[in-house]
Amino acid sequence: MQPMQEPARIRGMFAAIAGTYDVLNHVLSLNQDKGWRRFAVKAAGVRPGDRVLDVCTGTADLAIELAAAAGAGGTTIGTDFCEEMVRLGSDKVGDERGAPRLGVADTLRLPFRSGVFRAVTVGFGIRNVADLRSGIREMARVTAPGGRIAILEFTQPANPLFRFVYYVYFLILLPILGNLVAGGKRNAYGYLPRSVLSFPDRHELARIVEECGLEDVHVLTQTFGIVTVHVGTRPESWA
Ligand SMILES: C[S@@+](CC[C@H](N)C(=O)[O-])C[C@H]1O[C@@H](n2cnc3c(N)ncnc32)[C@H](O)[C@@H]1O
Repeated sequence: MQPMQEPARIRGMFAAIAGTYDVLNHVLSLNQDKGWRRFAVKAAGVRPGDRVLDVCTGTADLAIELAAAAGAGGTTIGTDFCEEMVRLGSDKVGDERGAPRLGVADTLRLPFRSGVFRAVTVGFGIRNVADLRSGIREMARVTAPGGRIAILEFTQPANPLFRFVYYVYFLILLPILGNLVAGGKRNAYGYLPRSVLSFPDRHELARIVEECGLEDVHVLTQTFGIVTVHVGTRPESWA
């Protein structure tokens, strides 16, 4: 485990920035984050009436998109181990039929029986989980046979010219702006690019998803390759 991936520190960092998390997400991504989440929901193949789960749900933006796809007849649950993020998310989701229900839970120990969700998603969260493989396996465990997991993450763009321009923003400007608005708490916006650079690249992550037992693994990209969605299907037989 890398030092910053230590669960208590990660939880404390997100608790410290929870209040400004949403606004900074929208501003720093130039409002692209909403489209990325919708894209991930589509990739997860969510249909009306489905029972679906979003882990590391934070303030529930991806869970809200999942619930929109699952409709009033569906069931959407969001879980996160940071109470402050869950509390802010719960204020946002409302209580209409089909709205996400949120709860506090560790992605490494999900409080659900095996095979109960048609799709399980994670948005910008799996990078922070202390044990990547165990996190993916736990997502797959609670997915129904034939159901999908979808992992939405930042990655390193492949085109060298674009990568240079992007890195000026991502490695230099974003930490300054983010820490300024978030009050520099725990240097969270310095952690963001560092954690992305030390995370497996898209090819390695695809291999890891396969090693975790998922089938038909494919990788979709968005916005010049700065964001990926890794999709895998849980096989009918699961060890
Ligand atoms: C960058 S935020 C992403 C939030 C949301 N999914 C989104 O799309 O904006 C990462 C979230 O992962 C959560 N997290 C990290 N490790 C976790 C774990 N082991 N179990 C549950 N949540 C975790 C953090 O508390 C944080 O809310």
